[in-house]
Amino acid sequence: MNLIREKTFLSNSVVKMVIEAPDVARKRKAGQFVVLMTDEKGERIPLTIVDSDVDNGTITIIFQVVGKTTTCLSEMKVGDSLYSVLGPLGRPTEVERFGTVACVGGGVGIAVIYPITKALKEAGNRVISIIGARTKDILILEDEIKAVSDELHITTDDGSYGFHGFVSEVLQNVIDSEEVIDRVFAIGPVPMMRVVCDVTRPSGITTIVSLNPIMVDATGMCGACRVSVGGCTKFACVDGPEFDGHDVDFNLLTSRLRMYYVQEKEAIEQFRCECNE
Ligand SMILES: Cc1cc2nc3c(=O)[nH]c(=O)nc-3n(C[C@H](O)[C@H](O)[C@H](O)COP(=O)(O)OP(=O)(O)OC[C@H]3O[C@@H](n4cnc5c(N)ncnc54)[C@H](O)[C@@H]3O)c2cc1C
Ligand code: FES
Repeated sequence: MNLIREKTFLSNSVVKMVIEAPDVARKRKAGQFVVLMTDEKGERIPLTIVDSDVDNGTITIIFQVVGKTTTCLSEMKVGDSLYSVLGPLGRPTEVERFGTVACVGGGVGIAVIYPITKALKEAGNRVISIIGARTKDILILEDEIKAVSDELHITTDDGSYGFHGFVSEVLQNVIDSEEVIDRVFAIGPVPMMRVVCDVTRPSGITTIVSLNPIMVDATGMCGACRVSVGGCTKFACVDGPEFDGHDVDFNLLTSRLRMYYVQEKEAIEQFRCECNE
């Protein structure tokens, strides 16, 4: 059982939680995730470890409320306990002194890219961060990203804050300004990661993306998280979640993410009915 120590809403659908998990806090590295269960019969869902505090034995997760399990999690309170938190899982981010790196985060992907941005800065890189959201109200972690970046660009789809447009357009401008970018990290919705890869492909800048396929066991046994990278089958839970974006089959990823759409819709509707009974 893992106690929830803190809970904050970062926007109306994004929640930050600090959870007791001393072993995970001690071992985790940037880019890794946990699989948690809210209760004994609950679904196992993967969430990135955004931060940790070894002295307090806690980890921080940030999640968007999208379906049944994240709704259920968002309704838990400080002092409640999660049934299980398994991790750290996945391969850590390859962190080196690359030179100048661009970290591009979209939506809740900003939370996932934050620990990577921090680790890249600590490794001595010049960090250009580009973060974006649909609208100003749902932009998260601006101050935290700013604190670990040499340069920060903000975009909103509706122009309510920062550049009016997409993160990929700002990245294109940065590349066109002849700034030498040694590596790009891009995390966010699948269409965003795909477009960022299209932007960096002509200049051959290695672009690392973090894939979010459906995961079940997260030990490489069930095959649920199957993705295709460079024509080879990979399991994102053990071979990833980060891959060279130029080699990722984004069409397959998109179709596999939609596989249980009907069941997911039914699950959240049933959950809401049970809550209202
Ligand atoms: C390695 C990894 C790290 C992630 N980190 C974060 C994070 O830090 N913050 C965050 O908000 N989200 C993160 N996600 C996505 C998160 O796991 C899903 O949003 C969550 O599982 C949705 O569950 P649900 O029951 O609320 O929604 P559902 O209604 O069940 O599903 C909504 C959508 O979420 C995806 N999804 C559903 N079940 C799973 C599952 N078991 N595994 C993965 N995806 C699923 C599907 O695309 C689905 O269409 C991560 C995913 C992966 C693979
Ligand atoms: S989640 Fe089962 S193999 Fe990756």
